[in-house]
Amino acid sequence: MTATLALRASILHFSADPQYHPDALQWHTDGLLLISEGRVVVAGDYTQLQAQIPAGVEVQHLPGRIIMPGFIDSHVHYPQTDMIASPAPGLLPWLEQYTFPTERQFQDGEHASEVARFFLDQLSACGTTTAMVYSTVHKESVDAFFTESAARNMRMVTGKVLMDRHCPEFLRDTAESGARDTETLIQRWHGKGRQLYAITPRFAPTSTTQQLGLAGELAQQYRDTFIQTHVAENKDECAWARSLFPNARSYLDIYDQFGLMRERAMYAHCIWLDDTDRARMAETGSAISLCPTSNLFLGSGLFDFDAANAAKVQLSVATDVGGGTSFSMLQTMNELYKVARMGGRYLPASQMFYLATLGGAKAMQLDHLIGNFAAGKEADFIVLNPQATPLLARRSAHLNSLEEQLFVLAMLGDDRVVERTYIAGELASAVP
Ligand code: GUN
Ligand code: ZN
Repeated sequence: MTATLALRASILHFSADPQYHPDALQWHTDGLLLISEGRVVVAGDYTQLQAQIPAGVEVQHLPGRIIMPGFIDSHVHYPQTDMIASPAPGLLPWLEQYTFPTERQFQDGEHASEVARFFLDQLSACGTTTAMVYSTVHKESVDAFFTESAARNMRMVTGKVLMDRHCPEFLRDTAESGARDTETLIQRWHGKGRQLYAITPRFAPTSTTQQLGLAGELAQQYRDTFIQTHVAENKDECAWARSLFPNARSYLDIYDQFGLMRERAMYAHCIWLDDTDRARMAETGSAISLCPTSNLFLGSGLFDFDAANAAKVQLSVATDVGGGTSFSMLQTMNELYKVARMGGRYLPASQMFYLATLGGAKAMQLDHLIGNFAAGKEADFIVLNPQATPLLARRSAHLNSLEEQLFVLAMLGDDRVVERTYIAGELASAVP
């Protein structure tokens, strides 16, 4: 059982989407966070809550630091860690040249474990405490990942990739073996400690209709599992998907036809959707995972914020490493801001910090457990030093508002500002 923890610093979290609720941003300049048994007891003003500190509990005073909920990365590929920053002219050649050969190595459980450990260390160092993660087609890759994340007690989601065509022979399952392995892994891991399973068809072009059909049946049978896939990322990919499923109204509609749109379904990219697609996303409770560093790196396109907003689709933000170029959600916010600007939209820093915390939790339907400091939530949180680098320290001497402070952090921050990461109230990583 975790001891009671009392931390005094500035506190930032959200009670709702600040876009629709002007009072949603919760800020306490001199704040107190009380944790007991891995859960939040209370967060608020130090002077108001001081009396609630149990006798004998020593307050850790962290002047100048910001405590906030851990980041949530709603789409990332742990097996692609070793091929981050691989150049290619677009998604499809990048998959052929780098991704598939790299993922082949995950048939070896020991290799998978070693990469999973490094990956989870990176996430912790960057302040990411929950992620929706792709494994590979090999069930060993899922066992390796969950074994490591369970040992760290992290709330993680992953699943075995389903892929029975249009990929190298060495990465192929069959519709039947894919479904059988998925069911075995659901029973082995879903709800075990903090681990959660995602049914994971890679994307429509690499699955037969039979495989998508079986995935849809599993999604129906195991309603509380997650679904993750890619959609409408790149124009060549869209044309390919449409040619393989000529009866579908759109690329997204392929998934819809097989029962793969529902709550807890996470669709990565969603750049080339139309308004009918977006309405369907909202209607079914499916969520978008927006991956700015990946979309810019692979030249996939610019996400349309206004259209997604108008349709009221659940939105989350993700790194998409190895298509993405950083594990840091702060670096990801930097490029998110620029993607929005290129679409004529101004995205306040408060909105970006919301999307990287409570917004991600809501999109994943996990906001009853994580995402902010409401009493009883799982105590996954980080301590930021907003002056961690000489440039940040210098820029921070000229701040006019909290919004500006957060904006500077989003533009100039990375893993260097993440001083500590706590998982369920336990210190998981700290800058020495
Ligand atoms: N589409 C299908 N597979 C992938 C992948 O591994 N990364 C990205 N970014 N897009 C994909
Ligand atoms: Zn991806």
